[in-house]
Amino acid sequence: MKDYLDFTGKRAIVTGGRRGLGRAMALALAERGCSVAVVSHSKDAPELLAELNSFGGKCFYFSADLGNREDRRGLVSKMAEALGGLDILINNAGMQFVESIETCTEEQWDTSRSLMLDAVYDLSHQAVPLLKASGGGKIINIASICAFREGGGNFSYGVMKTGVMGMTRCMANALAKDNINVNAIAPGIIRTDLTERCFEPQRYQALIGKYPARRLGEPDEIAKVALFLAGDMSSFVNGVTIPVDGGFTGN
Ligand SMILES: NC(=O)c1ccc[n+]([C@@H]2O[C@H](COP(=O)([O-])OP(=O)(O)OC[C@H]3O[C@@H](n4cnc5c(N)ncnc54)[C@H](OP(=O)(O)O)[C@@H]3O)[C@@H](O)[C@H]2O)c1
Repeated sequence: MKDYLDFTGKRAIVTGGRRGLGRAMALALAERGCSVAVVSHSKDAPELLAELNSFGGKCFYFSADLGNREDRRGLVSKMAEALGGLDILINNAGMQFVESIETCTEEQWDTSRSLMLDAVYDLSHQAVPLLKASGGGKIINIASICAFREGGGNFSYGVMKTGVMGMTRCMANALAKDNINVNAIAPGIIRTDLTERCFEPQRYQALIGKYPARRLGEPDEIAKVALFLAGDMSSFVNGVTIPVDGGFTGN
């Protein structure tokens, strides 16, 4: 029987893969034989790179400010050249301001848009010819449950993540004919640096009351869904955003 979780010979780019969800997804792929190139803001990531390379694939770390168009120029080709081609792109890098329509500044708006919308478009646009050259592939965008229900405190984030959900649908429509699947994951609150505050005991207790699972999530619970979307098990899944949130959105 075919091993659907064997990624030997596959080549993936994971943005924002130095920490958090990106790191968990990059390691999950590398552990299953995939060669992975991670790009994040920080200058280097020697420990992560050593861990990624310990599984036998050829892995790489690139540094770029993905919110900056100049930094993005030619980036996917450079990363794919190191990997020897491209099969999977995971658009994961993100950040969050605490603001509302009333308090969001132009600078916050621009920063949110350039990282969480422009970069997703730009890197996917750069990746398409390379995925086509590989005979097809997968694009996985990391949205958020804020795309379904913005809680009131992350205005620009909620807007951009809603845009990511729409972009996923539009890209999937255009690329299905090329054997490229485009899907998104909408995580609920998952334990990373981004959500550190949510795991403070008092806040945690208040938050889990909204989650049917009565707990918040762990990064490997996103990585498992990313493996599904990155491999052959999801061959007929296209254009959807999957909430991974212990039942929060479906409730
Ligand atoms: N955690 C959650 O509960 C949750 C829920 C819903 C959606 N999400 C989404 O999931 C994705 C990952 O979140 P996370 O929780 O893993 O966040 P995180 O722990 O804060 O990690 C974010 C990663 O993105 C990178 N990054 C941020 N800004 C960047 C920039 N301008 N250029 C290049 N890299 C940049 C960071 O690079 P450095 O390491 O170099 O700083 C880091 O590796 C984000 O899109 C987020 O919106 C997370």
